[in-house]
Amino acid sequence: MATNRTFTMIKPDAVENGHIGAILEKITAAGFRIVALKLTQMTVADAQEFYAVHSERPFFGELVEFMSRGPIVAAILEKENAVEDFRTLIGATNPADAAEGTIRKLYATSVGENAVHGSDSDENAAIEGVFHFSGREMF
Ligand code: PPS
Repeated sequence: MATNRTFTMIKPDAVENGHIGAILEKITAAGFRIVALKLTQMTVADAQEFYAVHSERPFFGELVEFMSRGPIVAAILEKENAVEDFRTLIGATNPADAAEGTIRKLYATSVGENAVHGSDSDENAAIEGVFHFSGREMF
């Protein structure tokens, strides 16, 4: 995957609360091109594998349970400086700390249920994109 791509998930809370359309609109309005997109659901095993780097953190069980409890929207996005610009667009992990106008400020409810994921590096963006999409699903 090129280094101008990032990976995102619209998390189960935002899907349950009907925010898919509004979040995708914010993403495309910010200049990201959608390279891959699907509605899907992670199993418990999928979520444990996806978040394995956080397995020793105290909230790991809660995070896995949350991320596997319902559908998510997974997407690969393309833009210059995609990883950093997308994390600016979504805002701080805890919506209470997120800047006005960011996706988490607008749509997240708590630090545990924070509406969207954004990759934290180009390397992880590539790994996470391949976790969810085959080559035939990327355009
Ligand atoms: S980050 O974005 O990686 O710098 O944030 P970090 O604080 O390291 O959090 C990693 C992921 O864990 C989620 N998280 C939590 N889940 C449940 N409960 C609590 N308290 C909590 N704190 C952090 C956080 O949303 C990150 O998930 P992703 O999917 O990467 O956004």
